[in-house]
Amino acid sequence: MYYFTKSQAYKRLKRHFNEIKHIHMRDLFKSDGDRFEKFSIKLGPILFDFSKNRITEKTIELLIDLAHEASLEEKIKGMFSGEVINTTEKRRVMHWALRVPENKEVVVDGKNITKDVWNVLKKIEHFVKKVRSGTHMGFTNKKITDVVNIGIGGSDLGPKMVVKALNFLIPEDIKVHFVSNIDPAHLSMQLQRLNPETTLFIISSKSFTTLETMENAKRAREWIVENLKSADAVKNHFIAVSTNLQGVKEFGIAEENMFEFWDFVGGRYSLWSAIGISIALGIGFENFKKLLNGAHMVDEHFKNSPLNKNIPVIMGLLDIWYTNFFGASSIAILPYSQCLEEFPNHLQQLIMESNGKRVTKENRVVDFNTCPVIWGRVGTDGQHSFYQLIHQGTQLIPCDFIGFVKNPYNNEKIHDIFMANFFAQTKALMEGKQEQKVVEELKNSGLSDTEIQKILPHKVFPGNRPSNSILIDELTPYTLGALIALYEHRTFVQGCIWNINSFDQWGVELGKVLAKGIVNNLTTKETCNAYDSSTNGLINYYKKIKRG
Ligand code: F6P
Repeated sequence: MYYFTKSQAYKRLKRHFNEIKHIHMRDLFKSDGDRFEKFSIKLGPILFDFSKNRITEKTIELLIDLAHEASLEEKIKGMFSGEVINTTEKRRVMHWALRVPENKEVVVDGKNITKDVWNVLKKIEHFVKKVRSGTHMGFTNKKITDVVNIGIGGSDLGPKMVVKALNFLIPEDIKVHFVSNIDPAHLSMQLQRLNPETTLFIISSKSFTTLETMENAKRAREWIVENLKSADAVKNHFIAVSTNLQGVKEFGIAEENMFEFWDFVGGRYSLWSAIGISIALGIGFENFKKLLNGAHMVDEHFKNSPLNKNIPVIMGLLDIWYTNFFGASSIAILPYSQCLEEFPNHLQQLIMESNGKRVTKENRVVDFNTCPVIWGRVGTDGQHSFYQLIHQGTQLIPCDFIGFVKNPYNNEKIHDIFMANFFAQTKALMEGKQEQKVVEELKNSGLSDTEIQKILPHKVFPGNRPSNSILIDELTPYTLGALIALYEHRTFVQGCIWNINSFDQWGVELGKVLAKGIVNNLTTKETCNAYDSSTNGLINYYKKIKRG
């Protein structure tokens, strides 16, 4: 049975790692003029350059051997044929089916899933048109001007990221807002700027039981009913997206105002489903379809391309290379696009909730590291914040640079300055700055030899810091859909190599359950003795200060 660190390929990679770990990328580039051609893949409007990684052709060959030994191709086939690969929750993993064109059947257990998917898409299309045209109005017959998505995790991060990224496609007469946090400040900050007569709430929750979402939804309902002075206003001002029809009905939202999706879609993979209705309301249904088309293009690429020409496969294998051989413990996501401000946040849930696991699919506690920490921020803001550590710190942090040739807000001249930073940073990370060059510069600036010796080590950049460059022609719904899908499949590849279940999330349960119990402790008068001394101490201090 396959186990990552016991595989033949792992052992060969370990030997290979020892052979090449001290080789500098500078030298790899010097000795091979074709490195960029060898280590880059073009996919439609996307150029993926992975030449600035600490790899040789042999590395890729061995990583592909590892993928074979882990049965990656079979596992890809398994996902795309609707096998129950989410074994702990006994579910299929079929978010990819949400972006299949209408004329392409996806048959599972004799049922054509595409038909169900497109029935919901058509319902979304109809509703979006009604809201945007003013046919669906508020209770007092005013046009909807503001849409508030109430949801958390996958029911918030994906749609929020896309709405922000494609903001340039949203017309002025509609605004889309997101409320996720149960901190009452979050909803209050939105409500104080909104007019109840023209606000539509989308209650987005796969389970329709999530505490944060349900509490915010109840408060929003109270706000509408109080301000519009009628419980009947709920039907004009609330819709729901969920897999839980019963829960939606009990909340008081009629079935015709509910948009369905299915158990085979994980929360963090759900922006393609009706969970994306806030996106469609903002950018329009036609653009939403383009987002789906871009993701579908990547699905086809992932399913059909040979492993060594397959972008998500190469991305995922490089993650293994750095995590399990170089000992890297994080990956920085660095979009050179203000529009992608929320992209690192979306990827945090996508990758860490998927692969932050410690037990294999065969129930074995692993003896190797799994998911690295995902973090990041848009360039050039990041440059003036944490890049110092990436360049000269003690940890190896592989980076993804993501940028676009054209800027949706035009201004070519300034965009060139922005992108020059992208290219410069990847080069600086790769090459570094050697002692000799620093000395030369310091001499030219008039420093004495003694002065130079004092400052020299601080000015040297070791380089040899790896990065991927993802350069996309233009930011459009299509290319954004493709980009997100690349990361979804990269996440799947990591999980296949580690042989973990990337599609459950039991780890978020414990805190949730405990919080429910603690709420009661906060509302009673008695001193709390139910927990450890720290938790009791914090709870009792909170109660004391609250009482005044
Ligand atoms: O944080 C755990 C989680 O279950 C996520 O996987 C999910 O995206 C989020 O909560 C929200 O869940 P729901 O859509 O059911 O409200």
